[in-house]
Amino acid sequence: MISWTVPVELPETTDTEAFGEELGRELGAGDLVVLSGPLGAGKTALVRGLARGLQVAGPITSPTFVIAREHRPLPGGPGVSLVHVDAYRLGGIEELDDLDLDTDLTEAVVAVEWGEGVAERLADRHVLVTLERRPDDVRVARAERMS
Ligand SMILES: Nc1ncnc2c1ncn2[C@@H]1O[C@H](COP(=O)(O)OP(=O)(O)OP(=O)(O)O)[C@@H](O)[C@H]1O
Ligand SMILES: [Mg+2]
Repeated sequence: MISWTVPVELPETTDTEAFGEELGRELGAGDLVVLSGPLGAGKTALVRGLARGLQVAGPITSPTFVIAREHRPLPGGPGVSLVHVDAYRLGGIEELDDLDLDTDLTEAVVAVEWGEGVAERLADRHVLVTLERRPDDVRVARAERMS
C-alpha cells in the first residue's frame, strides 16, 4: 500500500520504480495518473514501476518521440492495459482522442508525463504524482487523489 499525500523520499531509481509498482497495484480500469515533475525527476522510472504493478508488457521507455505507447496485460495479471503518454509534445489533450489508440481509455490505466494542467480534462478524477528533485539528487514523491 502506498502512503497517500505523504512525501516519500526516493534515494535511488529502484525506489522510484518500487513506489510506482505499489501505486500500480492500487489502480484499475479508467484510472488516470498525472505525473508532474521537472526534467529527469523520474517520471518514466515511476511508469516502469506502474507497469510492473499492473503486470503489463514492457519495456517502458520515454515516449517523447511517439507521444503514446500502449502496454498490453500479461497473463495472470489484472488484465488492464497501460497507456503511457508524453503530453510535452501533445498540442492538447484532445489530441489523445485523435491518436487512434487500440485501447479504450476507459478500460486502461493512463499515465501522462508532463500532463499537469491538461490531462485532468480526460477524467473527472485522477491521481496526481508530484516528483521533486532535491539538490542532493534524492527524489521526493507525493501521490494524491484529486477530483
Ligand atoms: N531516485 C531516483 N528516481 C528516479 N530516477 C533517478 C533517481 N535517481 C537517479 N535517477 C535517474 O534520473 C534519470 C531520469 O529518470 P527518468 O527518465 O525517469 O525521468 P523523467 O522525469 O521521465 O525525465 P523526462 O523529463 O526527460 O521525461 C534516470 O537516468 C534515472 O536513473
Ligand atoms: Mg520521461
